[in-house]
Amino acid sequence: MSDSKSLSNARKAKKDEFYTQLEDIEKELKHYKQHFKGKTVLCNCDDPRVSNLFTYFSHHFESLGLKKLITSCYKNQDIDLFSQNSSDKAVYLEYTGDKNGNKIPDREEIEVKPLHDNGDFRSDECKELLMQADTVVTNPPFSLFREYLQQIIDFDKKFLIIGNVNAITYKECFKLIKDNKMWLGASIHSGDRKFGVPDDYPLNAATCGIDDKGQRFIRVKGVRWFTNMDYKERHEDLPLYKKYNEQEYPKYDNYDAINVDKTSDIPCDYYGIMGVPITFMYKYNPDQFEILGLDNHNLNNSLGLGANSIKGKTIYRRIIIKRK
Ligand SMILES: C[S@@+](CC[C@H](N)C(=O)[O-])C[C@H]1O[C@@H](n2cnc3c(N)ncnc32)[C@H](O)[C@@H]1O
Repeated sequence: MSDSKSLSNARKAKKDEFYTQLEDIEKELKHYKQHFKGKTVLCNCDDPRVSNLFTYFSHHFESLGLKKLITSCYKNQDIDLFSQNSSDKAVYLEYTGDKNGNKIPDREEIEVKPLHDNGDFRSDECKELLMQADTVVTNPPFSLFREYLQQIIDFDKKFLIIGNVNAITYKECFKLIKDNKMWLGASIHSGDRKFGVPDDYPLNAATCGIDDKGQRFIRVKGVRWFTNMDYKERHEDLPLYKKYNEQEYPKYDNYDAINVDKTSDIPCDYYGIMGVPITFMYKYNPDQFEILGLDNHNLNNSLGLGANSIKGKTIYRRIIIKRK
């Protein structure tokens, strides 16, 4: 089964139960340490029994200098996190750091509080938790990504969330990217990522398996971090070596811009408008380039372009940019 099919099956089964691996969290979070001092972090799609984001932030609470960690989870979780007692209640947790000096988040240091509703991030009580938070970090359900992002934007929060690479081309997401209100995270630019899945998840795809700790997993392609927190590497110039010439960089039939097939081939001596592949986003330094639009996309800006073509041949989707 293809990756997209396995994802869509998960969607159909309303599973959405893919757990981010600690290793992937560590690789990304190390770029943002300066953003967390004195902050309240909310992980609002996170069952703390399985969420490695809860594990990460509770164990790095002191080193990051956090003020508070709040984790809320969607219904049907255990109110007693540390035993097998089940409850239909959704809960949220508050952790304000190590009290007994062992530098480990112990059970008695974590406050478990009931939610009256089902823990849906859109519910009023979860919105109240969101209001308390400075920063949200999670991997929201794939099926609710747009709604999830819109809510954090509406509440004007800092965020670091996982989504699919295709989100770049969603109208609302691209607008945020273009306006420098959201960008891609530092660590994942290609390949697939391993996610934990529940014990009853069917292992019927080549991308599924059981790891040496007995944890079921699935490998998912197209996963990316999206954020509005700045990091150093984002301001490194893309080295440009090639020189512009008309043959190698033809203009589009329908738009006055040159076509660049590979991001690494952006000419060093061209200051006009260019169309570059979507993968440009991984190298995008806002001090070096300006994003003007996206082709084949009805954006609410002056560059709401159709698909670009050269000598009648349609070109793959392009981001329209200009050097600063
Ligand atoms: C892709 S999983 C990621 C879980 C966890 N954030 C992580 O990174 O490991 C998405 C989680 O969102 C939860 N979820 C689904 N719908 C939700 C909603 N409306 N509000 C809050 N959480 C929801 C699911 O139960 C699931 O655990």
